[in-house]
This record gives sequence, C-alpha cells and structure tokens, in this order.
Amino acid sequence: MLKKILLITSLFAVLSSNVQASGDAAAGEAKAAVCGACHGATGISSIPANPNLAGQVPGYIAAQLEAFKSGERANAIMAGQVAMLSAQDMADLDAFYAAQTAQVTSKLTEDDKALAEAGRIIYRGGFAERKISACMSCHGPSGHGIPKNYPRVSAQHKEYLEQQLLAYKKGDRKGYNDIMYNIAFGLSEQQIKELAAYMAGLN
Ligand code: HEC
Ligand code: HEC
Repeated sequence: MLKKILLITSLFAVLSSNVQASGDAAAGEAKAAVCGACHGATGISSIPANPNLAGQVPGYIAAQLEAFKSGERANAIMAGQVAMLSAQDMADLDAFYAAQTAQVTSKLTEDDKALAEAGRIIYRGGFAERKISACMSCHGPSGHGIPKNYPRVSAQHKEYLEQQLLAYKKGDRKGYNDIMYNIAFGLSEQQIKELAAYMAGLN
C-alpha cells in the first residue's frame, strides 16, 4: 500500500514538472526587486554588460533562467541569482519583463552609425558566402523576436549584443538547438561589431 502511494505521488511530481508554469506579472514584479540592481527596475539597465529585459518575447526569459540554473548557459553572476528560483518564480519574472516597454539604451556615435549601415545589410539579407540566413527571418524585421524561442534583439545594449555573438562564435554559449552557434561561427569579428551597432539602434 505504502509503495503504491509513493509510486502515485512520484508519478504526479513527474507530470506536474512537465507542465509549464504560467506566469503572473504582478507576482513577478515583486520577485524582480533583487534583479533591478543590475537590470533596472523595469528591465532597462544602465550598465552595458547587463542586458535589457524589458519587452522580451514571452517565454525566452524563463528559458534563459532555466539554462543559467542548469549550467547550460555558463555565467557566474547569473548562476548565483537563479540558484533559489523555482519554475513558478521564473514564469512570473518572465511575465513581468515581457509586459514592460523596451527602450533604446545605447548612445550610438557617428562611427557606430557607419557600422550599423553595414550591419543592416547582413541583418536583412544574410551572408550568402557563409550560408547565413537573414537575422530578420528569426528575430523579425524590427528585431522584436518571435515567442518563445527567438529573442528580441532590438533596443539591446550594443556591448551586450557584441559579447553574446562572440560567445556563440567561440562556442561558450550554444543556445537553443545550437542555432546561434552555427550562425555566429561564420561571422567575422568586424561583422559582429556591425550587427551589434545595427540591432542596438532598432526599436
Ligand atoms: C549582479 C548583477 C545581476 C543581478 C542581480 C541579476 N542579473 Fe541577470 N544578468 C546579469 C549579467 C551580467 C547578465 C549577462 C550574462 C551573460 O553575459 O551571459 C545577465 C543576464 C540575464 C538574462 C539573460 C538575458 C538575455 O537577453 O539572454 C536574464 C533573463 C536575466 N539576467 C535575468 C535576471 C533576473 C530575473 C534576475 C533576478 C532574479 C537577475 N537577472 C539578476 C547580471 C545580473
Ligand atoms: C534560424 C533562426 C535564427 C537566425 C537566422 C538568427 N538567429 Fe539569433 N537567435 C536565435 C535563437 C533561437 C536564439 C536564442 C538562442 C539561445 O537559446 O541562446 C538567438 C539569440 C540571438 C542573440 C542573443 C540575444 C540575447 O538576448 O542574449 C543575438 C544577439 C542574436 N541571436 C543575433 C542574431 C544575428 C545578428 C543573426 C544574423 C546574423 C541571427 N541572430 C540570426 C535564432 C536565430
């Protein structure tokens, strides 16, 4: 009898862990208080290495928090932040940030604007020589992303974008289905600079 109850409760645990938690933005706002120190109160950060989270596609933030927790996305700062978060916390935080309004934060210089012009061509047309598809096919023409796997890349810090593309290129970040690793591997460091300057100015 006891064995049977144990079996049933463990089956229930397995089933319920597979059900994706649905997020509550108001609960997420309270839980985001600690995150605000680095990402800003509404997910608009003032430090270029800390990504903006405002207006991110629903589902992406929860998936990244899970990836930091499992170690699949390695980052010492974020690993410490997510250690105590439950799936429900992640879903609530996701709902809160998805409901905030994105805002361009990078101040682009004249040099950046020249880089962005070259970046626009790759973003919209891809890079046929290395069989790289247009970035906009997955991230949208204005960089708003497509829920839930394809993140918003517009209105993001230029430095953060560049740093992530370099991390994918080196294989330090593989991401969903290795898609970005395969893409960034074929980009030069100059093209990465151009793309980062372009995406940072999109809104
Ligand atoms: C001490 C500063 C700090 C705190 C506090 C912090 N973060 Fe972060 N966060 C970072 C940094 C730095 C990165 C960039 C990591 C990288 O380069 O991979 C990051 C990355 C992220 C990302 C990935 C975004 C993307 O576009 O892929 C998410 C999501 C995130 N943080 C959410 C949170 C949440 C939610 C909290 C609160 C529970 C939090 N962070 C607390 C510094 C912080
Ligand atoms: C086939 C779909 C696809 C294409 C094409 C694509 N991406 Fe992505 N991109 C993704 C996915 C999926 C992710 C999330 C990966 C993860 O889980 O780490 C992503 C993530 C990113 C990120 C990280 C965002 C963040 O907040 O951390 C950047 C930057 C990015 N892509 C830029 C680009 C650029 C620039 C191009 C064109 C050269 C491009 N992408 C083309 C699917 C795509």
